[in-house]
Amino acid sequence: MGLLTINKLTASVGAEVTGLDPARLASGDPVGQAILDALEDNGVLVLRGLHLDPDIQVDFCRLLGEVDHSADGHHPVAGIYPISLNPAKNSSAEILKATFDWHIDGCTPLGDECPQKATVLSAVQVAEWGGETEFANSYAAYDELTAEEKDRFGALRVVHSLEASQRRVHPDPTPEQLARWRSRRTHEHPLVWTHRSGRKSLVLGASADYVVGMDLEEGRTLLEALLARATGADKVYSHHWAVGDTVIWDNRGVLHRAAPYDPTSQREMLRTTVLGDEPIR
Ligand code: OGA
Ligand code: MN
Repeated sequence: MGLLTINKLTASVGAEVTGLDPARLASGDPVGQAILDALEDNGVLVLRGLHLDPDIQVDFCRLLGEVDHSADGHHPVAGIYPISLNPAKNSSAEILKATFDWHIDGCTPLGDECPQKATVLSAVQVAEWGGETEFANSYAAYDELTAEEKDRFGALRVVHSLEASQRRVHPDPTPEQLARWRSRRTHEHPLVWTHRSGRKSLVLGASADYVVGMDLEEGRTLLEALLARATGADKVYSHHWAVGDTVIWDNRGVLHRAAPYDPTSQREMLRTTVLGDEPIR
């Protein structure tokens, strides 16, 4: 009998973890490794009704790796970053609108930071409608390619930019917006990420702008088509939030997005991020 009870939620992504006592989450307990293993296997872990205290959430994340303390979310607990479209709760609310498109966090860092390893979200307030968080498995997206596609795409490189992800939600930017986005450097990543584990995944999503050396429109069409295949309705786990739920995702092996919700909604998630140590290569 393992440390955790795990039930798969779809064939390719997501599993519900039950029987977890929050008191065990903070104590340097072997449950940390069990969670990491379950995350590698399932991409997303759902812990319903946990009502995690923000301090415990941060302690828990320390079991999984180094916690990101860089983002100042104006929350009294260091390591907690509130996700909300309400500017009073999150000063970067405008930037957050890009979470409505499929993405992988951290593909366009300020420097050379690796994409985040894992993210924990806990629901403090839920949206009146919409606001589910949706997940698709990017390892499965690679595995489902044909042998010929695996071969061909294995050589492709893709430029990712903040501008690409922001343009989708702000198609007519002001010169100031453009200048701000462009002040962030772009990043070139392989389309196929070969992980330390030997597994391979596709690096797709809103930040992916164009394929290096390919006709611009042809490359963009390819990226859109691959994303559509990876995120077909039968491949997605959609988490319908209740207050007190906690969801953890493996940011290296899943794509995610928020389903639309009322921009004036009081929806509020408390986020803690575990830093990554694996470059996309
Ligand atoms: C994120 C994110 C989605 C959501 O926190 O990185 O994309 O549902 N959140 O709020
Ligand atoms: Mn995100």
